[in-house]
Amino acid sequence: MPADKLLITDPDTGSNVELPVISGSAGLPTVDIKKLPGALGYFTYDSGFAATAACRSSVTYIDGDEGILLYRGYPIEQLAEQSSFTEVAYLLMNGELPDASALEAFRQEIRYHTMIHESMKTFIGGFNYDAHPMAMMMGIVASMSAFYHDSLDIENPAHRRLAAVRMIAKMPTVAAACYRHSIGWPYAYPSNALGYASRLLHMMYSVPAEPYEVDPVAANALDLLFILHADHEQNASTSTVRLAGSTGANPYACIAAGCCALWGPAHGGANEAVLRMLNEIGSVENVPKFMERAKDKNDPFRLMGFGHRVYKNFDPRATIIRKTCHEVLEKMGISDPLLDLAMKLEEIALQDDYFVERKLYPNVDFYSGIIYKALNIPTNMFTVMFAIARTVGWVSQWLEQCETPETRIGRPRQVYTGDAARDYVPLTERA
Ligand code: CMC
Repeated sequence: MPADKLLITDPDTGSNVELPVISGSAGLPTVDIKKLPGALGYFTYDSGFAATAACRSSVTYIDGDEGILLYRGYPIEQLAEQSSFTEVAYLLMNGELPDASALEAFRQEIRYHTMIHESMKTFIGGFNYDAHPMAMMMGIVASMSAFYHDSLDIENPAHRRLAAVRMIAKMPTVAAACYRHSIGWPYAYPSNALGYASRLLHMMYSVPAEPYEVDPVAANALDLLFILHADHEQNASTSTVRLAGSTGANPYACIAAGCCALWGPAHGGANEAVLRMLNEIGSVENVPKFMERAKDKNDPFRLMGFGHRVYKNFDPRATIIRKTCHEVLEKMGISDPLLDLAMKLEEIALQDDYFVERKLYPNVDFYSGIIYKALNIPTNMFTVMFAIARTVGWVSQWLEQCETPETRIGRPRQVYTGDAARDYVPLTERA
């Protein structure tokens, strides 16, 4: 049984303060430090928030030592095996699995919102054809607050839900439009007879001149990747969404902030970086050279797709995706030398002292890029795919935040390292 309070004593003054300990339904007990500055005159320092909980949440749970990931209590392995992305979206947003009629009603709600405002196409058309699709996506999601005024009142639960469903429904349409803009194809309308992942593939690859059949192997693989990426607790982009949300910003602005944070190579940009890295390594003989670079502190090169802030044993999503990667390539009749290279790299890294000591294992994005490549998805669209899936997690966490009375504006403190107060020197008197 963990203690329900922690006594902190200042050795200089002998003053002390009792800090309450919060116990969630799982995970480490957490010390509530709010009283510390007032009682003893100290802040706490936690660069990268490695030891700090910023909210209470019942959406997703990770046990990094045991490699456990639960969405609303359900293990990711069971959801990956038996569920669909739309059902997972319902689960994350509402807290419970739907019955058949609730699921159909939710599907219909999403279908109703799949189209985008025609003027958004003019907006997309303003981007240079060679703009990165993720750069376009960030701008377009933010612009939704200019297009959909009927869902900006964050105090109104109906507005909140409408904005959340809208973003889940429209992200694939926006993503496909960005892709088609970059290759000069006319934008495709969503085909609502198709499921979520099939609809995206259809919007990306169908042309007005020819019939296009979505490959069910590709659609199922994409649906699975979306399930695996749907939510991941208080990661950098979700924390960004919550920080923006804490100011009362509108939902589209908050999700756009999440998209921006996701793009970094340490986060959602890693899937694209992995594929570029594998191409750069080129062949198995070059692996040792790149391993040495990854271990060299004077070289910024890192083994992309390796390591995780929370998982220190294995990433359960990576285990699922590794298996799927082999299955998809086999079913599609593809033999990709990059997969052999990735497996060799994984094998060598897992035996290397540097990686073993630091508990660096392949993460979800080590293999996702190889599947995306097999599905013909261009490398610069990988992070966009991640953003489509994570939108479900972002909106679920944002909805939860809006419904939590203790939510306050996020406002971290700092350790100031600048100059002490000094007097302004007029320009003419400066040496
Ligand atoms: N290659 C080489 N060394 C690494 C790597 C790597 N990929 N990741 C961590 N290290 C080393 C790091 O240099 C440090 O060594 P030392 O203790 O000697 O200074 C030690 O391992 C701890 O690393 P850290 O940077 O303090 O760990 P972190 O928790 O701050 O960073 C991470 C986690 C995921 C950002 C990092 O492991 C990384 O940059 N990985 C590569 C990028 C990547 O694959 N990101 C996708 C994450 S999963 C998808 C998602 O959820 O977004």
